Amino acid sequence: MMYQVFAPGRVELLGNHTDYNAGVVMSAALDLGTTVTGEASAGSRIRLRSAGFPEVIVDASEPLHPSGGWSDYPVGVIAKFIEAGYEVGGFEAEFSTNLPVGAGLSSSASIEVATAVLLCRMFDWEISPMDLARLCKKAENEFAGVNCGILDQVSCIFGKRQHAIFLDCRKESVQRVPFPEGVELLIVHSGVKHALTGGEYNERRDQCFEAARTLGVPALRDASTADLSHAGLSDVVRRRAAHITGENERVFAGLSALELGDLETFGRLLTASHMSSMENFENSTPELDSLVRIATSQPGVLGARLTGGGFGGAIIALVMAENIETAKVEILSKYLTDMEIDTDAYHCRMGDGAIPDA
Ligand code: GLA
Repeated sequence: MMYQVFAPGRVELLGNHTDYNAGVVMSAALDLGTTVTGEASAGSRIRLRSAGFPEVIVDASEPLHPSGGWSDYPVGVIAKFIEAGYEVGGFEAEFSTNLPVGAGLSSSASIEVATAVLLCRMFDWEISPMDLARLCKKAENEFAGVNCGILDQVSCIFGKRQHAIFLDCRKESVQRVPFPEGVELLIVHSGVKHALTGGEYNERRDQCFEAARTLGVPALRDASTADLSHAGLSDVVRRRAAHITGENERVFAGLSALELGDLETFGRLLTASHMSSMENFENSTPELDSLVRIATSQPGVLGARLTGGGFGGAIIALVMAENIETAKVEILSKYLTDMEIDTDAYHCRMGDGAIPDA
């Protein structure tokens, strides 16, 4: 029997780098993502295909190792299921995606989640959605070698059409928040690829952990921005910590704003988040800054910020529905003039996760 699974990409709306600091994040699944079609076969041979890449064949009865290619994401998930005691049999699977590459929209998590859900359906396993997210995160941490938090995998699984996801990373609890109609998400790729395998992500992570140690708290989630001024932190570490405490505070403010339907405030929080990335966390780039500056000067744009890890990738802009097409054309043309980069923008909707009734 043939199975088909769709796992979306995601945008981070507010709460940058808070996930590995036991903090809070607001995100949304997109209507773009990875589709996998697969069928179980006899034996233990696994054949993985994706257009434009060489086919990968592994054997579930032999030790699995990373190869440095795209297949590390599905193979990592297979390896973690085997490690957890699941009996993975042979199968064939074909992956395709309509997510822009290198935009920081979690194409890797969408491949992991698509693989995990496919395996559960094919082999009839019952696992809770949060456990699936944990297993996919483990695959990314230990197999693909990226020390990410749980944001991406949770968003790909728990997303819901026209809803934001409020994730408390300490409790590992999810709340879906209805997103008011009338505003749309515009994603604009900076044209500079984002890759988390670079050392900057881990460096920021270490600085956050250092700040928590100096403050004597288990995680930066337990500190407020006011706590940072007299704490004996170096200037750099204080600014890194201020980004995290500020982001946690903005997520709570954003949640209240959404509940009140106050999108103007929500938009302002987005732009404030980007300013903090620029000044405190230094995970922005001149290209992302240019896009945010251009976007926020367009009529009908309520706010804009980088989304995800940073150091390249895309921005998101929150735009009144009636202004979105004009904003898209204007932003792309002004960016071409400003940065001489001819790039793409995507008018996206908040979509369902891989397990919409999770
Ligand atoms: C990447 C990581 C996430 C999260 C974001 C920043 O997307 O994969 O775990 O840390 O960066 O918020």
